[in-house]
Amino acid sequence: MSNQRIGSLAELRKAKTLEYFIQTESGERHIFALFHAGQIYAYENQCPHNQMPLNWNEHQFLDHSEEYLQCVNHGALFTLTEGHCVYGPCLGEKLEAVSLEAAGDDLFIRLL
Ligand code: FES
Repeated sequence: MSNQRIGSLAELRKAKTLEYFIQTESGERHIFALFHAGQIYAYENQCPHNQMPLNWNEHQFLDHSEEYLQCVNHGALFTLTEGHCVYGPCLGEKLEAVSLEAAGDDLFIRLL
């Protein structure tokens, strides 16, 4: 298991959501992170409905209210802190969480 630096906490805090493309030994991973209420959350950028990326616009994952993560393909809404789908075609399913940690201003993903 190893940690890989993927970005800056200050940048994530400012943007609220950011996406990252990470090169690993098993290939490229596409994830996104959320800064909400002082906490960091991260998920694989893959909708449980059609396994497509949630976003069309770079780094944009929040709905207009900023109370949910939204998949723009068919409108599914997900809770911010758990990634549970509460509306849309994948109702009851959830986003796959990613282990992300901050050390100072650095964000690290934990790779298995
Ligand atoms: S691919 Fe996300 S709602 Fe259909």
